[in-house]
Amino acid sequence: MKFFVDTAEIDAIAELNDLGMVDGVTTNPSLIKKSGRDIIEVTKEICELVDGPVSAEVTATDAEEMIAEGRKLVEIAGNIAVKVPLTWDGLKACKALSDDGHMVNVTLCFSANQALLAAKAGATFISPFIGRLDDINLDGLDLIADIRAIYDNYGYETQILAASIRTVNHVTQCALLGADVMTAPPNVIKAMVNHPLTDKGLDAFLADIKAAGIKIL
Ligand code: G3P
Repeated sequence: MKFFVDTAEIDAIAELNDLGMVDGVTTNPSLIKKSGRDIIEVTKEICELVDGPVSAEVTATDAEEMIAEGRKLVEIAGNIAVKVPLTWDGLKACKALSDDGHMVNVTLCFSANQALLAAKAGATFISPFIGRLDDINLDGLDLIADIRAIYDNYGYETQILAASIRTVNHVTQCALLGADVMTAPPNVIKAMVNHPLTDKGLDAFLADIKAAGIKIL
């Protein structure tokens, strides 16, 4: 499973990237706002740091403007994936930009039919938002399962990029369901290391190291 980091915070990306945990990065307007940085500048810095796809989202809502913005975004670096919303205009932009040979991430996906349309429009990535479906008492993981089944039925190569991941359980379940990629905030990725039995076991080992005076160096 590929891990993308869902943030525009350079330090957090760098820390995870140094550990080999970063296969790509996703940003959106809310994350750019949170960073307080200029979109072009911060996206360029992220692209210099990370080899994999870096999603940068358009701001326009009509297809022609999205295409123009997408063409500007891909000039930032060779690893930009243009992120477009799952609207009819977004699908038009997806088709045009992917026909040009650019990576496109179609975002704000909340249904299997939307994911089917994105695949037909040539999307590189489809981003189903799991957490936001959970927020309205639906099961976001059901959507991942449905899209996986549909894409496999017809051999679509669009990668399922599970997004709006809020918990470590979301990560496990997305991996079990066969999502190609998950994008999560740095704190969720770092929380994956935690287990109470690891802490308890380490405490016992440390006590024995102290009691026995075990030294290696
Ligand atoms: O990748 C999409 C993500 O940024 C949205 O997450 O938690 O705002 O639903 P959230």
